[in-house]
Amino acid sequence: MKGAGIMQANGVAIEFEGVYKQFDQSEVLKGMGLLVRWGEVTTILGPSGCGKSVTLKHIIGIERADRGRVEVAGHDMNTISKRDLTGLRKRMGVLFQSSALFDSMTVKENVAFGLRMHTHMSETEITERVEICLGAVKLEGSENTMPVELSGGMQKRAALARAIAMSPDFILYDEPTTGLDPSTANVVGEYIVKLQNELDVTSIVVTHDLSLANQISDSIALLFEGRTAIQGSPEDVAKSGNEQYDMFVSGKI
Ligand SMILES: Nc1ncnc2c1ncn2[C@@H]1O[C@H](COP(=O)(O)OP(=O)(O)O)[C@@H](O)[C@H]1O
Ligand SMILES: [Mg+2]
Repeated sequence: MKGAGIMQANGVAIEFEGVYKQFDQSEVLKGMGLLVRWGEVTTILGPSGCGKSVTLKHIIGIERADRGRVEVAGHDMNTISKRDLTGLRKRMGVLFQSSALFDSMTVKENVAFGLRMHTHMSETEITERVEICLGAVKLEGSENTMPVELSGGMQKRAALARAIAMSPDFILYDEPTTGLDPSTANVVGEYIVKLQNELDVTSIVVTHDLSLANQISDSIALLFEGRTAIQGSPEDVAKSGNEQYDMFVSGKI
């Protein structure tokens, strides 16, 4: 799948153009635009409730835009077939807000879950793959540990190992540092960058954590009142003088 022509480094992996999404009476996305390039970390930054998770759901195909265009890996998400959507989802590793590990399963079974469900790998191959993924997040040897026995930061790393198990093209993170103390949050940020460098992936991170955004991002898109107020490198957005960005940084929005 990789190197399929459309995946040129710095080419466009995901694009939102004029996206509108309403729930009941509240319009959440109001003409949103977004650009995600292959091989980069793009962070969707914004205050709580501004529509970041909703945006992520459009990328995964759980929500559909009322109006506007959402394109993911060359697919128009408004018209994508069920079959193509299933195929696309297999290329996505997702790290949800709560680590959402299965409490009743060992770390190994958590990481192996997708492999058992979607591949025909043998037990030996699964064991090897789980070892590699746990090694990538420095959790080697914790195969038989139960999630409750892990610290918050270790749970995030185990969830990260699960997210990369299927060798995804995309890793999607929803608030990966929420609930973590600053130093653990910093470590999670380091792992996001490490995996980005080691695996040939495109990462989309949704967060309200400005220091995480600055730590990991090639590109930051500030989402405010249903639109992208500004998108660019951390350095460029910081010196842009963009009013919404400056308000966000000073905690006014
Ligand atoms: N399925 C839904 N039905 C109704 N309202 C929703 C739904 N999903 C999200 N919303 C609303 O959309 C807004 C944005 O939500 P969300 O994307 O989760 O915010 P955040 O930026 O904190 O991730 C919120 O006001 C939320 O209540
Ligand atoms: Mg959210």
